[in-house]
Parts: sequence; structure tokens; C-alpha cells
Amino acid sequence: MAKVALVTGGSRGIGAAISKALQAAGYTVAANYAGNDDAAKAFTDETGIKTYKWSVADYDACAAGIKQVEEDLGPVAVLVNNAGITRDAMFHKMSPQQWKEVIDTNLTGLFNMTHSVWPGMRERKFGRVINISSVNGQKGQAGQANYSAAKAGDIGFTRALAQEGARAGITVNAIAPGYIGTEMVRAIDEKVLNERIIPQIPVGRLGEPEEIARTVVFLSAEDAGFITGSTISANGGQFFS
Ligand SMILES: NC(=O)c1ccc[n+]([C@@H]2O[C@H](COP(=O)([O-])OP(=O)(O)OC[C@H]3O[C@@H](n4cnc5c(N)ncnc54)[C@H](OP(=O)(O)O)[C@@H]3O)[C@@H](O)[C@H]2O)c1
Repeated sequence: MAKVALVTGGSRGIGAAISKALQAAGYTVAANYAGNDDAAKAFTDETGIKTYKWSVADYDACAAGIKQVEEDLGPVAVLVNNAGITRDAMFHKMSPQQWKEVIDTNLTGLFNMTHSVWPGMRERKFGRVINISSVNGQKGQAGQANYSAAKAGDIGFTRALAQEGARAGITVNAIAPGYIGTEMVRAIDEKVLNERIIPQIPVGRLGEPEEIARTVVFLSAEDAGFITGSTISANGGQFFS
């Protein structure tokens, strides 16, 4: 039977490309999302992939959502923690709310999701947890103290959990994308994008969501079992860690 892969934020942007690539690789895919019902419906119509609505920032909702996915499709073998948001502001203007929303979604969301799939993965002696961090978690970014802190935290979480999962056949890895052409990045002022961001990328362009998705498929495979605790950069040469 096909393995089940659950992708958070899996109906739009990078997550949608990940969901489609995993489906093409033979997985039964469940795509979680937060609130954009129209995008989720269009995604299911296009791909046949089932979508599930809950917030990764809500522990109980994650537990209930994962239970539902497992009842519908079977045990989750691959978890891709991709859901993420930005609430950018220079630190002196950043509100506690902007800090909290980003930490709750981009960092605590990983705890909330992984905690409910972990016991089953340990029992079955197989699991793949793939966390989508960011180049800005590796290098820091002005205007993103909240986002950089959360994304750096994702890498620490990955390294700690990799050690705990190793003997149980569970690998835990992170991917740190650079700037990828999704709605999150298109929301950046075009002048800033063209004059300040793209010139910092040696390949001279934004990345494509599919370029992150192929890394997820690689890390999900059974024969990727010796790769754990790593952070794979996919950033067009913008930053080497
Ligand atoms: N784009 C980039 O350049 C870039 C670079 C580095 C890292 N990343 C990371 O890559 C991931 C995907 O980014 P993206 O650019 O594809 O973002 P996006 O286009 O804005 O899509 C975000 C997805 O996450 C979902 N989401 C947001 N908050 C959620 C929550 N609380 N619970 C469940 N789902 C939630 C959204 O659901 P709805 O559709 O319901 O809104 C949507 O499906 C994020 O973690 C981001 O930080 C992106």
C-alpha cells in the first residue's frame, strides 16, 4: 500500500508543489491548510489530493486533524512541516502579536504536528519528518526578528529530534529555501525584490517551488535513511552555512 504523506500548508505555494511531487512519487497525500477554502478546493479539483483545514498553531486541532487523516488514509509515514507565515516589521515597531503569531505558527506548529505522529512512527520503526526552515533562519534578516528566530528554532528542533528518532528508523531533516516565487515573496514590494533581493542571489532569479519539492521527495525516500539532522540549503547560492 502507498505510504501516506501529510503536508502542512500543502494547498498553496511551496506546499502545493511538495504535495504534487509526493503524489507523483507514489505517496497518498493529505494537504493541510489554514483558511483559504477557495485555494484548497481548486487544489483538490486539480490534483485529487484531499485537503484538511486546521491551524498548526493549535495543538488540539493538530491532534484531531491527524487522527482524521489517519482514519481516512492510513498512518502518516512522511510529515512535511511546511506551513508558515510572515508578519514583518523592524524590531522597534514589532508588536507582541506579530512576534507571537509567527512563533506560534512557524515554530510551535512543528511541535504541535510532530508530537501526534511521533508515537506511531516510533511503533512502526519508520518515519520521515521534513521541516521547511529558511535562509533567513540561517543568516538572520532585518525586519524579520520573529521569522528568523522561528526558522532558526526549526533547525534546532530538527537536530535534537533527529537524535531521538535515529534508533527508531525516523529521520528528521530541514530544508532552508532561499527566495522562492510564491505569494509570500510576491507580497514584497517589487522595487525591493528587483533592486535589493534578486541581486543578492548568484543564480540571478527566484527559486521555483518545484526546486524545493524535489528535495522533499529525496529526503522522504526509504533509501534516505542515513541522512538525518541535516539542513539542506536551496537558495541559488545566496548563503552558505
Ligand atoms: N516563499 C519563500 O521564498 C520562502 C523562503 C523560505 C522559506 N519559506 C517557507 O516555506 C513555507 C511555505 O511558504 P510559501 O511561500 O509557499 O507560503 P504561502 O504561499 O504563503 O503558503 C502558505 C501555506 O501555509 C498555510 N498556512 C499558513 N498558516 C497556517 C496555519 N496556521 N496552519 C495551517 N496552514 C497554514 C497556508 O494556508 P491557506 O492557504 O489556508 O492560507 C498556505 O497553504 C513557509 O514555511 C515559509 O516560511 C518560503
